[in-house]
Amino acid sequence: MMREINASIPFDKRLWRQDIAGSKAHAAMLRAQGILSADDVAAILDGLAKIEAEYAGGGLVEDLALEDIHMHVETRLAELIGPAAGRLHTARSRNDQVATDFRLWVRDAIDAIDAGLASLQAALLARAEEHAETIIPGFTHLQVAQPVTLGHHLMAYVEMARRDRGRFRDARARLNECPLGSAALAGTSFPLDRQATAATLGFDRPTANSLDSVSDRDFALEFLSAAALTGLHLSRLAEEIIIWASQPYGFIALPDAYSTGSSIMPQKRNPDAAELVRGHSGRLLGAFQALAVTMKGLPLAYSKDMQDDKEPVFQSYDTLALCLAAMTGMVETLTFRTDRMRAAAASGFSTATDLADWLVREGGVPFREAHHITGRAVKAAEAAGCDLAELPLATLQGIDARIDERVYGVLTVEASVASRTSYGGTSPAGVRARIADAKTELGL
Ligand code: ARG
Repeated sequence: MMREINASIPFDKRLWRQDIAGSKAHAAMLRAQGILSADDVAAILDGLAKIEAEYAGGGLVEDLALEDIHMHVETRLAELIGPAAGRLHTARSRNDQVATDFRLWVRDAIDAIDAGLASLQAALLARAEEHAETIIPGFTHLQVAQPVTLGHHLMAYVEMARRDRGRFRDARARLNECPLGSAALAGTSFPLDRQATAATLGFDRPTANSLDSVSDRDFALEFLSAAALTGLHLSRLAEEIIIWASQPYGFIALPDAYSTGSSIMPQKRNPDAAELVRGHSGRLLGAFQALAVTMKGLPLAYSKDMQDDKEPVFQSYDTLALCLAAMTGMVETLTFRTDRMRAAAASGFSTATDLADWLVREGGVPFREAHHITGRAVKAAEAAGCDLAELPLATLQGIDARIDERVYGVLTVEASVASRTSYGGTSPAGVRARIADAKTELGL
């Protein structure tokens, strides 16, 4: 039981590349500082290269008695080169070792997620460009509110992804300090060159406090929180895809590749991929919660509780990478049913605000009064069973004499979206301009 509860090798074997890279950097520095002999370091580096080749070929043999990846590498090194292996751990502890390995791993994970987010942005941008003028209903409270363009709607998710990438970028910048050389908790009496190991491993600088270095997991928590927020955004888009694909909406058709059938109802095409992206966001939020709660009560410096930092991060990375790929694929391949979208956009008197705005602009009516007049026009249209644009001029003038035939120029959904030219608004011209900005920013 002790072996089982103590061991992390079943999951921390994913750190093997980072562990070997850290050991190489440490050994080379020990040599340069005259702490180890040239012969010993040559043997160590040679042995590490052999282990790297073995592990790359799937040759890592798990042994719970060896606890973790650090002991596995060190034990294998001893088998290969004998007693010199025991000198590698000079001026080092597994505490600074694991902190270094894990930072290196999270740094790569951030870079991979950033690439996934960039691909999603590119997919959204391409569809937004295609549909810069396509009209869909804009909702508030999931009630038809005002017509907007599909391009504008999709670009909203490009903005979310831009902020997500910013959060990962910020986390990466703070993460990029090297704990190696902090040893167990107090630093070491050996004359290390921490600048050198930091530079070799691509870090900006060594960490400044040895106690903090071995007990800080902010970098993992920041990764998890950025992943949780990204997952939350993906979940909102997934939810829209699910709603839009339902028959009463019928705004989109999902390709077969991203739908599944039912075992009993032959006609069904379920948006399972979108539902799982929505569902998985719960796991991403939970992973942040799990590690935050693990960390919150820990005194300085290292405690074994911290071994539980890895699984939430590995699982969140895998989950998020898969969700990003699935969402990108869905965005690239779904079909927009523009006729259904336009019809829905014209429903619910969605151009009522345009009538009120017209009264303000052309009739000099105060907005609150215009709002009231428009409400009466909506009631009249409702009673007549028609659209605002279909009300006879006589009816409109019966409601307010200041209305004239020019009002019909603003009551269509096309006129409505075209008029929304304020910066950041839904007009096709504005959407095209924002798409151009985003493409420049993304180097597309
Ligand atoms: N497997 C351990 C972890 O992941 C490595 C550090 C162990 N340090 C120790 N003092 N027991 O946290």
